[in-house]
Amino acid sequence: MQPIGVFDSGIGGLTVAHAIVERLPSESLIYYGDTAHLPYGDKSPAAIRQYSVGIVHFLLEKGCKLIVVACNTASSAAFDTLNDYFRGRVQLITVVDPLVRAVAAQNYRKVGVIATKATIQSGIYEQQLRALDPGLEVVSLATPLLVPMIEEGFIHNRISNDVIESYLGRPEFADIEALLLACTHYPLIRPEIEAFFGGKVAVYDSKEVTARAVHEALSRHGLLATGARSEAHRFYVSDHTPSFEDTTKLFYGAEVHLEHLNIWA
Ligand code: DGL
Repeated sequence: MQPIGVFDSGIGGLTVAHAIVERLPSESLIYYGDTAHLPYGDKSPAAIRQYSVGIVHFLLEKGCKLIVVACNTASSAAFDTLNDYFRGRVQLITVVDPLVRAVAAQNYRKVGVIATKATIQSGIYEQQLRALDPGLEVVSLATPLLVPMIEEGFIHNRISNDVIESYLGRPEFADIEALLLACTHYPLIRPEIEAFFGGKVAVYDSKEVTARAVHEALSRHGLLATGARSEAHRFYVSDHTPSFEDTTKLFYGAEVHLEHLNIWA
């Protein structure tokens, strides 16, 4: 059976990869983390599009039957380009659509979105949420400190509490009913964010909804693997350091072996 391709700017997309593996244990994954170009959140849309096209080429060469753009920033900046470029060659799933559909179905009055600078600047969440629910009020905020904070392990402590409070304590977030965590890393601080709002705000991330979308797309096309997994998962990175290997534990729940394969060389 062909593998599922998953890519991200780095290691954070392992949160999405893990949710897919949990939901679909018979499937084999090929993961590509573009650690050489990390972070995408501060890059221009043109650069993010160029990297994303290169990675999808690589995953297609590896024979992937479906490709998941696990990175919110790449999903926001590059999805239209990828769709045009690879139309008819492979099915692409982003982390944006499944999250937007899950939230828009709830008929909220006002929701918040937090993400990287590039994701917020793209305006994609506001556009897509309003396309499905025109009356919805959406407040968006770039929260660039959160990615390095989480990668450095500042989770559930005084520092993370202060950073979360300084971002989410703003008046525009005071009356939201739901908050979208539109970044690969943010599920790791979801309990803290829920606690910050005292359980009064519904908090959503992309992991499980994306895994469900992958499941549905594969079964719709008759591509679901069954029985025992035929191949081991492979995890590639464009640049390799011991600290990337360490960080896999945070995002995947277990350390995974990263293979250094620089497709840009
Ligand atoms: N993976 C990115 C995202 O989900 C966060 C890290 C980065 O900026 O590259 O938006």
